[in-house]
Amino acid sequence: MEVQRTLVLVKPDGVQRGLSGAILARLEARGLKLVGLKLLQMDRELAARHYAEHQGKPFYKGLVKFITSAPIVAAVLEGPRAVEAVRSAMGKTNPTEAAPGTIRGDLALEMGRNLIHGSDSPESAAREVALFFKASELVAWRRDADPWIIEKP
Ligand code: RTP
Ligand code: MG
Repeated sequence: MEVQRTLVLVKPDGVQRGLSGAILARLEARGLKLVGLKLLQMDRELAARHYAEHQGKPFYKGLVKFITSAPIVAAVLEGPRAVEAVRSAMGKTNPTEAAPGTIRGDLALEMGRNLIHGSDSPESAAREVALFFKASELVAWRRDADPWIIEKP
């Protein structure tokens, strides 16, 4: 199975609500491996680059204002099909449509306060990881539990 890396952001609502640990814990418990982690406050320039695909959309201004309003936690997670694994764990963009058991379905109510970002493709992941992390900030490490989580580590 293809090993991927993907970018996760615990958005300002998640950090303010004290859910950073709970959100990361769900992803770690699923078997994804942390290879990068930091707390930071995004500036407008980083937000514009991160959300470039949404520039011009009606929700764009509010999205940038929100994502830059307070600190976030940025993480890089690695594992087989990590991009899809994170997206399914997050649930649908609109939390009221997100299935129970997902992060958004269990912990959020509104689109503009949906707690978590996850890259939507391997190409987006490569671009987004590079926006938030220098190569030297990513740690390749061997996890002893790997054979109990991944068939062919
Ligand atoms: P994200 O990028 O944050 O992981 O979320 P996503 O892929 O599930 O959703 P996306 O379509 O990329 O939208 C990015 C964020 O913009 C806000 N949004 N608001 N009012 C609206 O119609 C609308 N659409 C999107 C959400 O906060 C969404 O997470
Ligand atoms: Mg998105």
